[in-house]
Amino acid sequence: MTAPGPAAHLLVCGGAGFIGSCFVRDVLGRRDGTRVTVLDKLTYAGNRANLGDVEADAEMASRFAFVRGDIADASAVAPLAAANDAIVNFAAESHVDRSILEPAAFLRTGVDGVHVLLEALRRETERARRSERAMAPRFLQVSTDEVYGSVDEGSSVESDALAPRSPYAAAKAAGELLVRAYHVTYGLDVVITRGSNTYGPFHHPEKLIPLFVTNALDDLPLPLYGDGLQRRDWLHVSDHAGAIAHVLARGAAGEVYNVPGSAELTNREVVVRLLALLDKPWSLVRTVADRPGHDRRYAMDGRRLGELGWVNQVGFDEGLAATVAWYRDHEPWWRAARGGDWDAYYARQYAARLATSSAAEPSR
Ligand code: NAD
Ligand code: TYD
Repeated sequence: MTAPGPAAHLLVCGGAGFIGSCFVRDVLGRRDGTRVTVLDKLTYAGNRANLGDVEADAEMASRFAFVRGDIADASAVAPLAAANDAIVNFAAESHVDRSILEPAAFLRTGVDGVHVLLEALRRETERARRSERAMAPRFLQVSTDEVYGSVDEGSSVESDALAPRSPYAAAKAAGELLVRAYHVTYGLDVVITRGSNTYGPFHHPEKLIPLFVTNALDDLPLPLYGDGLQRRDWLHVSDHAGAIAHVLARGAAGEVYNVPGSAELTNREVVVRLLALLDKPWSLVRTVADRPGHDRRYAMDGRRLGELGWVNQVGFDEGLAATVAWYRDHEPWWRAARGGDWDAYYARQYAARLATSSAAEPSR
């Protein structure tokens, strides 16, 4: 195992997004000498402002570098792979609804991009074997519970078959399978995490929790898909980022680690809590046409990660209250995140749904 210790140089792909930026803030915030280079394409979901706290702190900024680029661009990736002790790959198109509208970008980043990273890792591993660098880099692929598909009962263990059901989940599964194949075939030092539905500050407003919070702050309708009884296990972003750092440092090469959340709830139960925190009425909630192929439930067994010594720190009620407060206090951030193609995306995703929506029944 070649797990990077303190003072390591980390290449963090997709580090300007929601979870990646939390990881970067937390790792640099340990002030143990670790250096971070972020490689990020800055898609609609990437935002340098998410790293503003790091860049504003002179000591952290001295250990931080930002490169705008695409993980699918081998010429951008090669020198960065050569200069770092580990690569943590958060980069992905991350929204299921967008993957249903236009899957191509999901495959380009999730399959071609991961392949480019693995080829760079393979070259660096060969260089280490020839003693041209001290150690082969470690690779951590950030994956998702969605690769297991919908789980009606019980909880997924890491050895379960992958059964993705959306283009997003299929691209994530394909990326993971490539990572595993490169470990088996070329002996690369890789670890994979499968995280649960994540929430917290800096979450793009397209996803359920930030969409409903920001729409409710504007007294706009809250589009609840189908019966709203789909179940998700919610993981606070700092716990997700912490678990990834833990697996990077301690995970066994070639292993997969589930990262479950702290609260399995129906979407309706989440919305009830949000409205109470925001002091907004249930009448904002509209029942709209369901997502095609909507996964009913995700649930993962976290024993393997527990045995590695990781325990989540943030309870859902506490984390949700802090998240709602963060969105109240950061209106310029979420209004800016609703720039770019937001209006066109929103119309495409919701206009017909809202036009044919009905008042959501209060409790089921
Ligand atoms: P996000 O959409 O907020 O961030 C993705 C980041 O990747 C953005 O900064 C974007 O600019 C960057 N990016 C996209 N394509 C790129 C490319 N080709 N090259 C370089 N950078 C690129 O996503 P997130 O919610 O932070 O998710 C991060 C990772 O965690 C993803 O791999 C996602 O599949 C996984 N994940 C997310 C969740 C969740 O609930 N959000 C749960 C489990 C796993
Ligand atoms: P989302 O945040 O997109 O995450 P995922 O699809 O990865 O679980 O959605 C969480 C749940 O909320 C999912 O069951 C779909 C549902 N949802 C709605 O009901 N309405 C919405 O507008 C959105 C974005 C999601």
